[in-house]
Amino acid sequence: MTIKDKFEIYNICCIGAGYVGGPTMAVIADKCPNIQINVVDLNEERIKNWNNDDLTKLPIYEPGLSEIIERCRGKNLHFSNEIENNIKKADMIFISVNTPTKTSGIGAGKASDLKWVEACARQVASNSKGHTIVVEKSTLPVRTAEVIKSILEASKNDDIQNKNTFDVLSNPEFLAEGSAINDLEDPDRVLIGGEREEAIESLCEIYRKWIPEQKILKTNIWSSELAKLTANAFLAQRVSSINSISALCEATGADIREVSRAIGTDSRIGSKFLESGPGFGGSCFKKDILNLVYLCEYFGLPEVASFWNEVVKINKWHQHRISKLIIKKLFGTLSGKKIAILGFAFKSNTNDTRESAAIQICKDLLNEGAILNIHDPKVSEKQINLDLSKSDENNRWCKVSLLNDAFIGADASVILTEWAEYSEIDWEQVVNKMRRPGWVFDARSIVEPNSVIKTGLNFWRIGDGLTVCKTLT
Ligand code: NAD
Ligand code: UGA
Repeated sequence: MTIKDKFEIYNICCIGAGYVGGPTMAVIADKCPNIQINVVDLNEERIKNWNNDDLTKLPIYEPGLSEIIERCRGKNLHFSNEIENNIKKADMIFISVNTPTKTSGIGAGKASDLKWVEACARQVASNSKGHTIVVEKSTLPVRTAEVIKSILEASKNDDIQNKNTFDVLSNPEFLAEGSAINDLEDPDRVLIGGEREEAIESLCEIYRKWIPEQKILKTNIWSSELAKLTANAFLAQRVSSINSISALCEATGADIREVSRAIGTDSRIGSKFLESGPGFGGSCFKKDILNLVYLCEYFGLPEVASFWNEVVKINKWHQHRISKLIIKKLFGTLSGKKIAILGFAFKSNTNDTRESAAIQICKDLLNEGAILNIHDPKVSEKQINLDLSKSDENNRWCKVSLLNDAFIGADASVILTEWAEYSEIDWEQVVNKMRRPGWVFDARSIVEPNSVIKTGLNFWRIGDGLTVCKTLT
C-alpha cells in the first residue's frame, strides 16, 4: 500500500485518560475544533468522572481544565471505555498510559514497566484500519518505539489480507501538574521525534494551530525519547542540589533563599527550580531517573548510573532529615503528641499525591507515635487512606476538612505543600488552639517568619540558618 504524502487528521484516539491524556486532549480539542477526539481508558470510574455533569467531580484537578471540558465535551471531545471502536476510527493514536517502575523480574525497582504500553500496541495492531500514526505520549525508555513498531509490523504478517500501515512518532509531554493547561497552551517547546517527514508533518500541523513554528522541535526518534528522561533528570537534580545546600545553610547560618537568589541571577544557572522544599515528589521524577539509571547500567555505563542514582538517594535522605528534625525539636518523642499536617499533595494546585514527600514524612511521624490531623484542600480522605494504609495498628491520623480544626491541641504544625491559603494563616489566632511550647515547621518557606515568632510559637523553616538559631536562643 502506498502511504499518502501527508495525512489530514480528522479523528484522534488517546489511550489513557490520566493526568496527561485528559488535559492534553482537552487542549488539542479546544484548539482544533475540526478534529474529533476520543479519550479512552480501561478504568470505568475514571471515565464516569470525566463525563460527570458536576465539573468539580472531574478525576483530575487542574486550574482551567473544567472550563475547557465544559466548552468541548460532547462536541469534539469524548471520554469512553470503548477502546476498540475508537481505535478503528482513528487516523492518529496517542499512547498515554502509565509507565511505572517495574516491581518484579529483570530491572525490578528501576526499569519502566512497559506492559501497559505493550498492551496498547497490541490493541492498535488488531483494531486499526488503513494507515495509522501512533504517537508515544507516555514517557518511555530509549528505543521503545522499536518495540511498538515490531508489534505493529507483526500484526501485518499474521494476516496477509491486513493491509494496514503505521508510523510511530515520539512526542513526549513536558507539562507539570498544577500548571498543565498553561503549559499545554504556551509550552517552551513541543518535541517530535520520528523517521518519516510526512508523519512528523501531520502532527506538526495540529500543534501549529496554536504554537509558533520555532517552538516545534523535530529530532530523530531516539533523541526525543531520551530528551524527555534527561529533562526530568536535570530538573530533579536541581531540586536535590538546592535541598542538599539547605541542610548546610541550617548548619552555618546561611539562608537558602538568599543563596538561591544569588546563584539564580547567574544567567548560566537561571532562577527556576531552585526552591528548597521537603523533597521532590510526583509520579515521574523518581521513576524517570531510575529508568535512566537502569538504561545506563544496561548499556555498560555504571559510573553514569551511580551519578544519577544519587539524585534519588539524597531526596529520600532529605525527607527523613525533616522528619528527624521535627522529632528532635519535640524533645525526641512524638508519643501521643498531635501534629497538624498542612498539605498532602506533592505540590500545590493538584490533587495528586504520588511520591509526595508528605507520605514519607507522615509515615515517619506516625512511626514515632504521633497523632496527625491532616489537611489538604484537594486531596480526598480516600486517597490519604491509600497512601498511609489506615489499619487497626495505624489509625492515629484523621483528615480534617476545616483548616482551623487541624490546630486544635497540636504541639506542632508542619507545612508540606505550598497551598496559598497556608501563607495567609493568622498565627495570632492559631496559637490559642495549639499546646505550648508549640512549633511551626515550614518546609515550603511560605510563611513570613515574624508572623509566627511574634506569637511566641517556635519557628523552623527550610534552609534558614538564622531563624533556626534565633528561635533556639
Ligand atoms: P495515569 O496513571 O494518571 O493515567 C494512565 C491511564 O492509562 C490510567 O487511567 C489507566 O487506566 C490507563 N490505561 C493503562 N493501560 C491502558 C490500556 N491498555 N487501555 C486503556 N487505558 C489504559 O498516568 P499519567 O500521570 O497520565 O502518566 C501517563 C504517562 O505520561 C506516563 O508515562 C508518565 O511518565 C507521563 N507523563 C506524566 C506527567 C504527569 O504530570 N503526570 C507529565 C509528563 C509525562
Ligand atoms: C515534572 C516536570 O516539571 C514536567 O516538565 C514533566 O513533564 C513532569 O514532571 C513529568 O514528566 O511528569 P511535575 O512532577 O508535575 O512536573 O511537577 P514539578 O513542578 O516539576 O515538581 C516536582 C516536584 O519538585 C514537586 O514535589 C515540587 O514541589 C518539587 N520542586 C519543584 C521543588 O521542591 N522545588 C522547586 O524549585 C521545584
